[in-house]
Amino acid sequence: MLSIRGLRAGYGGRMIVDGVDLDVAAGEVVTVIGQNGAGKSTLLKGIANLLRNREGAVTLDGENVFALSAQDLLGRGLAFIPQGRSVFPGLTVAENLRMGGFLLRDPVLLRQRIEAQLEAFPALAKLLGQLAANLSGGQQRQLELARTMVMQPKVIMLDEPSIGLAPQVVEQVFATLRTLAAGGRAVLMVEQNVRRALQASDRGIVLELGRARLQDKAAALLGDERVARLYMGKR
Ligand SMILES: Nc1ncnc2c1ncn2[C@@H]1O[C@H](COP(=O)(O)OP(=O)(O)OP(=O)(O)O)[C@@H](O)[C@H]1O
Ligand SMILES: [Mg+2]
Repeated sequence: MLSIRGLRAGYGGRMIVDGVDLDVAAGEVVTVIGQNGAGKSTLLKGIANLLRNREGAVTLDGENVFALSAQDLLGRGLAFIPQGRSVFPGLTVAENLRMGGFLLRDPVLLRQRIEAQLEAFPALAKLLGQLAANLSGGQQRQLELARTMVMQPKVIMLDEPSIGLAPQVVEQVFATLRTLAAGGRAVLMVEQNVRRALQASDRGIVLELGRARLQDKAAALLGDERVARLYMGKR
């Protein structure tokens, strides 16, 4: 589905991500872990073709991602939820959901897609007229996911989806990602909440100084003494 080969990416001539190979298949949740500044966000931005400064190859179902604009990528099925809140705070929940489908020309299809998301996220159905700014952190994260899913992307990339959420809400978000993968999507996320994220993942990649230091099954990383010590706060 998503294939990354020899990806290098950075800013103003300084390469941060330094040669990453990674595949994410349909039905899989893959988590990127690493220290602050390791280049995790840069990796996702590089994959999403948001950096001018990049080398290597990224393909989505065989198609060259670097040849596609952000809008074309969304249309082809690559969605990216960046670090920090990305709802439109001054718009209502309903308006946010419609924004998620701005590429859909058919208003009937747009309405159907939004209805489907309100079934998947019933809490949002009661909040349609509320400004997104007035939602709780967990509700805003649900809105981001629902808005993203209006386009039915094949690949969903998320940068720190659990940040700032209560533990119970974190579990809900990760459960939602598992459900999306079970529905045939590919999920690639960056997480600081390493243990919980790996527990919800099939595989993980450990990024150190912009390089993939380790890639393995999530269960293997959870049992890795060095990973536990460096990334899960264990002695
Ligand atoms: N827009 C930018 N311009 C220049 N340098 C940047 C920019 N964004 C990030 N960097 C630099 O790239 C390096 C990696 O940053 P990045 O945001 O990818 O790390 P990260 O692993 O996501 O960290 P965190 O866990 O804090 O989110 C850092 O040294 C950072 O200073
Ligand atoms: Mg980051």
